[in-house]
Amino acid sequence: PKLDLGMKTKELVTAHPLFAGLPKKQQKAIMKVMRPQFAVPGEKLIRKGDRGDAAYFIASGAVEVRTATHNVLLGRGDVFGEIALMTGGRRSADVFALGYCQLVRLRAQDFKKLLADSTDLQDHVAMLAQKRQLMNSDD
Ligand code: CMP
Repeated sequence: PKLDLGMKTKELVTAHPLFAGLPKKQQKAIMKVMRPQFAVPGEKLIRKGDRGDAAYFIASGAVEVRTATHNVLLGRGDVFGEIALMTGGRRSADVFALGYCQLVRLRAQDFKKLLADSTDLQDHVAMLAQKRQLMNSDD
């Protein structure tokens, strides 16, 4: 499979299923504020206990979330780092890049604005965060 090194801004957004369904206007707004981030295998992307300043969307590659009791694999189309932003609390887990990853990073205020502008996305992310927190509550 293609490594997707150096994907263009537009490709990064349209490669992501959560973004692909959004109106053009919103996709353009994301392109303006997103921070493309390329990660290498083993790179620590999030440290448990830190304050959260951004959320990440995986355009290509895979990451591993490590909680006290679970290792969860996330791949293209998944989002992570949303919990601390939604709760205002600390990072709930460590997250590592498994291979080379192309990520779309949105800073907290841009992520919140995106959710405020899209009810579908808001619902999706809120459900996701809730499900994950529930899974971790028996850690
Ligand atoms: P946050 O707590 O900000 O930082 C760590 C991230 O790991 C968290 O947001 C979620 O995006 C993700 N995460 C935590 N627990 C799980 C889980 N059980 N399954 C999948 N992802 C998780």
